[in-house]
Amino acid sequence: MHVLLIGGTKFVGHFLALRLVAQGHRVTVLNRGVTPDGLGSGVERLRADRGTDGFDSALAGRRFDAVVDFAAYRPEEVERALRVLRRRVGHYVFISTGQVYLVREACPRPAREADFDGNVMARPEDPETLEEWSYGVLKRRCEEVLLRAPDFPSTRLRIPMVNGERDYYRRLESYLWRLLDGGPLLVPDGGQEVCRHVYGLDVADALASMLGDSRVFGRAVNLAQWEAPPLWDLLGLLSEALGAPERRVALPAEAITRAGLRLRDVSPFSTGWMSYLDPSLARAELGFRSTGLPEVLARVVAAFLTAPPALPPPGYEARAAERGLGSGRS
Ligand SMILES: NC(=O)c1ccc[n+]([C@@H]2O[C@H](COP(=O)([O-])OP(=O)(O)OC[C@H]3O[C@@H](n4cnc5c(N)ncnc54)[C@H](OP(=O)(O)O)[C@@H]3O)[C@@H](O)[C@H]2O)c1
Repeated sequence: MHVLLIGGTKFVGHFLALRLVAQGHRVTVLNRGVTPDGLGSGVERLRADRGTDGFDSALAGRRFDAVVDFAAYRPEEVERALRVLRRRVGHYVFISTGQVYLVREACPRPAREADFDGNVMARPEDPETLEEWSYGVLKRRCEEVLLRAPDFPSTRLRIPMVNGERDYYRRLESYLWRLLDGGPLLVPDGGQEVCRHVYGLDVADALASMLGDSRVFGRAVNLAQWEAPPLWDLLGLLSEALGAPERRVALPAEAITRAGLRLRDVSPFSTGWMSYLDPSLARAELGFRSTGLPEVLARVVAAFLTAPPALPPPGYEARAAERGLGSGRS
């Protein structure tokens, strides 16, 4: 196949590009050239901002067997892709998010594909909540563009938080910095929230096998790991993978924020914007199997120990205050 990745250089896109090259496919990536590109000489590169006419020019006259769109966040971007690529691609996969469920009123947990349908929550006032809400609502509108184009062979792939090597949000890594400095690992409200994330390489592999598969044309598909431990247990597994002793300290979220700390810095998985997807359809119909969680954590720990990032993750500068809060508690 000749596959176009819109994006393709940061995280899952990078994995997918290299996986496809390894499998003998022809790969073209289209991006702005802002993100460092570690893809080597085996891929073709097109430079354009996907929100501008440069996108149309870069793709003029081009045909692809499949396209994976990692960089669409607004409906007009999907409309442009549709206009430029219509009748010139065999399959278009839009990378969506579990957040499309989180912004739905009273959405079931875990959410199945059909739970997309329903009213969206009212627009919030608080800026941080508004940012999260807007992301989910705009991704929904992107999906709706595709729903209005049934003759265009497309798939909407919904994924929750992605973990793995190369995660530029540095979520698991934030916990590893804290486990390695010997201080307490603060767990807001004891970490009872369910964590059903997905592993980046699993998403890339599922995408590679899904491209051109007519069973997913016109459909939405959830992808997520099978395990769904509470955060408290997930952090226990991460400590074990690192070889660290017990450092978890349950604390009321309110005590953490009262100390001037941001919950998402102290514990990136304690945000309240954690989608919980039901991946049964992908398992039953597409044979999707996720890498076991202990194995995923072992790989993330190994990557971290092999090349520890030079700079700590955001929020780590207030670590002294976390130590103060955690001292004497268990
Ligand atoms: N990470 C998560 O936890 C998570 C969870 C749910 C859903 N998602 C979805 O996953 C997608 C991102 O995945 P990824 O980061 O793994 O993808 P990726 O393809 O590895 O990286 C993002 C790519 O988009 C390109 N890009 C960004 N803005 C662009 C623009 N205006 N025009 C052209 N190219 C642009 C970047 O290159 P340049 O900077 O060089 O342009 C980069 O190559 C998003 O759709 C997001 O909603 C992620």
